[in-house]
Amino acid sequence: MTVTANERLGLAPTDPRPIEETHPLVDRRETNPLLGDQKMKLGLFGTNCSYGLIMSHAPSNYKITWEHTKEIARRAEAIGFDVMVPVARWKGFGGSTNFNGNCFETYTWAAGIAEATERIAVAATSHLPTVHPIVAAKSATTIDHISAGRFALNLVMGWVPPEMEMFGAEQREHDERYEYGQEWLDFATKLWTEPGTFTMHTKYFDAELLEAYPKPHQAPRPVLINAGNSPRGIEFSARNVDVNFASLDTLENIKSYVNTVKSKARDDYQRDIKVMTYGLVVCRDTEDEAKRAFQQVVDEGDWGAAGNVIKIAGSGASQSFDHAVKEMQERFIAGWGGYPIVGTPEQVAEELGNLNEAGMEGMIFGLIDPAEEIPYFGENVMPLLKQAGLRH
Ligand SMILES: Cc1cc2nc3c(=O)[nH]c(=O)nc-3n(C[C@H](O)[C@H](O)[C@H](O)COP(=O)(O)O)c2cc1C
Repeated sequence: MTVTANERLGLAPTDPRPIEETHPLVDRRETNPLLGDQKMKLGLFGTNCSYGLIMSHAPSNYKITWEHTKEIARRAEAIGFDVMVPVARWKGFGGSTNFNGNCFETYTWAAGIAEATERIAVAATSHLPTVHPIVAAKSATTIDHISAGRFALNLVMGWVPPEMEMFGAEQREHDERYEYGQEWLDFATKLWTEPGTFTMHTKYFDAELLEAYPKPHQAPRPVLINAGNSPRGIEFSARNVDVNFASLDTLENIKSYVNTVKSKARDDYQRDIKVMTYGLVVCRDTEDEAKRAFQQVVDEGDWGAAGNVIKIAGSGASQSFDHAVKEMQERFIAGWGGYPIVGTPEQVAEELGNLNEAGMEGMIFGLIDPAEEIPYFGENVMPLLKQAGLRH
């Protein structure tokens, strides 16, 4: 018979009732809008970091204060958006904007946004090597309770070397980061799901008498996200997560990418996975206005910061951004290398429909001035998406 931790320490025995009885869990498909039934899910990306997705001095009221970031999330929720995904950043990219350098930590940001909202899913983005799984799993569980099952965790293996080196060690080599990430996630998953106590003796972790309560609100665990697009990243996503975020260029490439990710999940791991993308949306009454606003972002771009991002992203730190680095430098200035959608409400709705048709089940995006533009999107684009059957 195994001796429980409590018995060994002479404490009261672990509750013998089944976990379902002592810790009622809810089906995350019912509480988390990321797994809900909207055909084309929508969200905002990076509203916790200065300049968001735009490396540019183009005019905007966007700023990093708690009141402003909270207001953006509330407005996004008010028009029916599904999710807020923050960017995990520890230092800026220099240039004249020190792009993304003024930013809120994402677990604590998510806890605050969860309390400030009622329906929208809220993610934290976590560089796994920077936080022990015990601390991360507990933080995730806490936010999941604050939000009553609306939490999602975006798992990042590490990426930008200068900020990872702030933690005192050189990054592991690309594929080994995923090996570490797998053990990290196995550890966190056990903390979320395992009743009683357990041990963890693996290559990177060595621990005994582990336990964690409460369990998350969502069963069997919070929604998981990963944005790896490399072969190793796709493998990790297919095996473990609910949503893979893709950095892509053409609709053709999107189709084959979605197919690769979904069939890998289905064939190798007997699971379903959603694929979504990200980018910048510039929507105005006329096409000309929208194009001019987009062009202003480029013309007033912080080429110093963009150059630094390109140097880092092209240095082998990531495999998924290489194509974007070479071919579409402008896209970094206006949308962090993501898919740009620029046009009238009709054109934006149509383009979102095209992405959906190509297999994308959602898009998280940046706006030049999020707080100002969200209500406009709600009034002008959302009704068209409903008409098109992409939203209800
Ligand atoms: C939507 C999206 C969000 C991401 N968020 C972050 C982030 O917040 N912090 C970060 O360092 N990397 C972020 N990344 C980078 C990826 O998670 C990943 O590390 C990168 O694509 C390299 O992985 P790969 O070479 O396996 O594709 C993001 C990527 C995408 C597409």
